[in-house]
Amino acid sequence: QMARRRPGGPTSLVLCATALLLALGVERALALPEICIQCPGSVQNLSEVALFCKQTPKLMLYARCCFNQKGAILGLDLQNCSLKDPGPNFPQAHTAIIIDLQANPLKDDLVNTFHGFTQLQTLILPQNVSCPGGISAWNTITTHTDKQTCQGQRNLCNSTGSPEMCPENGSCAPNGPGLLQCLCADGFHGYKCMRQGSFSLIVFFGILGSTTVSIRILLWETQRRKAKSS
Ligand SMILES: *[C@@H]1O[C@H](CO)[C@@H](O)[C@H](O)[C@H]1NC(C)=O
Ligand SMILES: *[C@@H]1O[C@H](CO)[C@@H](O)[C@H](O)[C@H]1NC(C)=O
Ligand SMILES: *[C@@H]1O[C@H](CO)[C@@H](O)[C@H](O)[C@H]1NC(C)=O
Ligand SMILES: *[C@@H]1O[C@H](CO)[C@@H](O)[C@H](O)[C@H]1NC(C)=O
Ligand SMILES: *[C@@H]1O[C@H](CO)[C@@H](O)[C@H](O)[C@H]1NC(C)=O
Repeated sequence: QMARRRPGGPTSLVLCATALLLALGVERALALPEICIQCPGSVQNLSEVALFCKQTPKLMLYARCCFNQKGAILGLDLQNCSLKDPGPNFPQAHTAIIIDLQANPLKDDLVNTFHGFTQLQTLILPQNVSCPGGISAWNTITTHTDKQTCQGQRNLCNSTGSPEMCPENGSCAPNGPGLLQCLCADGFHGYKCMRQGSFSLIVFFGILGSTTVSIRILLWETQRRKAKSS
């Protein structure tokens, strides 16, 4: 019994597959996030990001990033990039598990840099920059002569006192080192999830410093509106 032959045959199938792979490869190259290419060079051979990427199966290094097969950034190595601040592209790396920022002249502490970085487990910083969220946000903080390592992000929703920050019809969820957010239950939205309606809204809370920032922004907005309306 003869199998029905497909048009083309094996050779053209292989060619097709190759062309497809090339096209995908080119697309990936074109779509490299700016955060991975803004600093010249590639991940340092002996960096922790390189070790992580080589040890974990199915991950790939391109430029300054380590990607998974879906193209998400799991590692970012920006050491020795003359960075004064992480810059506007930094949120592109919010899926990262490991980030290395050592050997950069960072000007400020990175209090509001890691909003949404919920996967982050290892953060390497210059020696004079504190771990975001402080000691309560990490399992271990190690200070070396030339760098600082923040290891193991803690879920602050589990700390005593934190769950009460969220309203009755909302629930607490981690939102990066030292940061929480309150997610309104289905059918609730608005301030403290007190309004009932069809769409739900996310209320952001930051603790350990960010709260005052948010409140300040809120006050500033209110003042501005008052000023405008008067
Ligand atoms: C980095 O590692 C690759 C192989 O993993 C090697 O070919 C290359 O020479 C190394 N570069 C440096 C600067 O050590
Ligand atoms: C940082 O980069 C400069 C060149 O841009 C190089 O000379 C220096 O050795 C690098 N330092 C480290 C610690 O990699
Ligand atoms: C850390 O030290 C570098 C110089 O080594 C300096 O440029 C930078 O402003 C300092 N950053 C902080 C947050 O103190
Ligand atoms: C938080 O606490 C709950 C129950 O108390 C537990 O099941 C969960 O694993 C904890 N999560 C973390 C990240 O510690
Ligand atoms: C929370 O939801 C329940 C009904 O599901 C409602 O009775 C209650 O008033 C709500 N609480 C707040 C603070 O809106």
